[in-house]
Amino acid sequence: MANNEDLFKKIIAHAKEYGFIFQSSEIYDGLAAAYDYGQNGVELKNNIRQYWWKAMVQMHENIVGLDAAIFMHPTTWKASGHVDAFNDPMIDNKDSKKRYRADVLVEDHIAKIEGKIAKEITKAKKRFGDAFDEQQFVETNPRVVANMQKIEEIKNRLYPAMDNDDMAAIKQLIEDLAIACPVSGSRNWTDVRQFNLMFSTSMGSTAEGATEIFLRPETAQGIFVNFLNVQKTGRMKIPFGIAQTGKAFRNEIVARQFIFRMREFEQMEMQFFVRPGEEMKWYEYWKEQRMIWHLSMGIPAENYRFHDHDKLAHYANAATDVEFEFPIGFKELEGIHSRTDFDLKAHEEYSGKKLRYHDPELNESYVPYVIETSIGLDRQFLAVLSYAYTEEKLEDGSERVVMKIAPFLAPYKVAVFPLVKKDGLPEKALEIMDGIKSDFMCFYEEKDSIGKRYRRHDAIGTPYCVTVDHQTLEDNTVTIRERDTMKQERVAIDEISRIVTEKLSINK
Ligand code: GAP
Repeated sequence: MANNEDLFKKIIAHAKEYGFIFQSSEIYDGLAAAYDYGQNGVELKNNIRQYWWKAMVQMHENIVGLDAAIFMHPTTWKASGHVDAFNDPMIDNKDSKKRYRADVLVEDHIAKIEGKIAKEITKAKKRFGDAFDEQQFVETNPRVVANMQKIEEIKNRLYPAMDNDDMAAIKQLIEDLAIACPVSGSRNWTDVRQFNLMFSTSMGSTAEGATEIFLRPETAQGIFVNFLNVQKTGRMKIPFGIAQTGKAFRNEIVARQFIFRMREFEQMEMQFFVRPGEEMKWYEYWKEQRMIWHLSMGIPAENYRFHDHDKLAHYANAATDVEFEFPIGFKELEGIHSRTDFDLKAHEEYSGKKLRYHDPELNESYVPYVIETSIGLDRQFLAVLSYAYTEEKLEDGSERVVMKIAPFLAPYKVAVFPLVKKDGLPEKALEIMDGIKSDFMCFYEEKDSIGKRYRRHDAIGTPYCVTVDHQTLEDNTVTIRERDTMKQERVAIDEISRIVTEKLSINK
């Protein structure tokens, strides 16, 4: 899947047309970076969430769940570092009034130079054919060498400026690179300022008694503050994990790219508590486990890659992103972080309460180290949608759009159609549907030609369509059509449940 804006636009339009995702408050012209999941979207989202829960909680005896409140005591965010350090540098263009993330403007500039290098390589490849040695070319071609040097110099200024919160240096870099606003084309910039990404609101009924509180920017802190509650009441022994799914909120400066970057989104996070010194072993374990989970959804390995971080956050001693090849390119889907004992120690310090574990084997108390796996549910949804979207030309010359979603994740598993709306076929179809709807999400449809109904369910991703015809009334058989192959089989009504169950099995 190449970087493909057109494909991305088609997927967004399809998601709306088929009830997966709508712009939030659309009748009021929408709210930026907030989206609603429609009748099919909510089913797919629930299925992905349940599959994650199953893989993390049900399949690991030493992982339990939690559902912490979104509102937390404000000191939580002081301890976690979010009040002081959860910032992005922002800059406004005075002519267009558009706001940008200053570091992203510089990174986009780097990407343009990288684009020039890639063009030189493609041209040279064509010129030299089989004899082309890319490495030698990159090391010796003067234009490429000069551009690589430029990138190096920019990075050598950007990263230290970011690390040192040196806003003036970032502004100077933008000016020196002559970066212009993509909208107005002007270089009339404000100063660069730090912008905290947390949303705040006030709790309490009177103005004097109100306290400023924050909407959580990650679910993880709800797990940390409950670490001892769960450990003690669940009699958990290290190593053990606590998993949680739920909404998180970030006032992103640049929120675009559909549900990839939103201001309200959902995370699925797990904190795994381990003995200090054993964290790297568990970090490697979770890297492997999480990749197995991704691949188990039927999306091939070439769509994923790890991106290990060179630059680590102050609390981490190892970190990687699982990147997925979205139509907008390879982007972060999940983060796996070795967070040391930073969070629990900070909460000990700010709360004055001990957050220690007594290890009966070592007969020693310590603050555990933590490996975190953190994935955005909406991003996983977008990954499933992007991979599933398929345009096909059929043998008869017609075309269809089919969502090749793994059957166990599909919003509906079976659609039941009477061939025609008379002769007792609707009644028979509804009777069949009544017999299987407690097993799977089923959809009854009698409007339009059978061909149109098949297309509609291809577009939603329904793996099986059952059609009731006149023969059904004679011998209690139906046709069952498989979405991807479009092959139809005649089967006994009693067999539908078994056939579908077998094909939906996650173990498969
Ligand atoms: N507790 C760690 C943490 O929150 P993160 O890398 O900031 O780490 C984890 O976020 C995941 O949450 C990301 O990999 C991404 O999938 C998702 N995510 C983060 N910000 C998001 C946003 N604005 N919109 C949608 N998903 C987002």
